[in-house]
Amino acid sequence: MKKLDITPAIYEVQMDELTEDERHLIALAIEGTQRSYAPYSHFHVGAAIRLKNGATFIGCNQENAAFPAGICAERSAIFAAGTQYPDQPVLTLAITARGKDGVLIDEPASPCGTCRQVLIETETRFQQPIRILLYGRNRIFVVDSIKELMPLSFTEF
Ligand code: THU
Repeated sequence: MKKLDITPAIYEVQMDELTEDERHLIALAIEGTQRSYAPYSHFHVGAAIRLKNGATFIGCNQENAAFPAGICAERSAIFAAGTQYPDQPVLTLAITARGKDGVLIDEPASPCGTCRQVLIETETRFQQPIRILLYGRNRIFVVDSIKELMPLSFTEF
């Protein structure tokens, strides 16, 4: 038996190591947390994406009393962009959240499994890795592709 040596490349960065555009996307993701509809979890997630044509989209979680009917912030942004610009690759995604107390999270939150699957398909579809910025007040994590967070992912059948 041989253990596979798969080590995800996850970077911890400081705000001043990000580009102006990346910092702007984080600000838009923070704005997304203010638009979130999360009366059940009280966990207000915001996302923001930059497309290749320069367009930005804000996403936020939209909950529902029938729980599975809701959607995460990441997918709300990606599906909105896919509806408006179906041929535009996603270059960058920023994600953050605000807790019940209304304060932005200290540690970054990372995308759920379903969102990871959608992100993998978005990368595969456009042959474009997505740079992902996970923002918390105390720490910022960056990956250069969702593949770093999802080894051995399912991509086709
Ligand atoms: N949520 C997101 O919006 N993105 C994620 O990646 C994880 C979870 C939302 C779903 C639900 O509205 C709330 O956070 C609590 O799980």
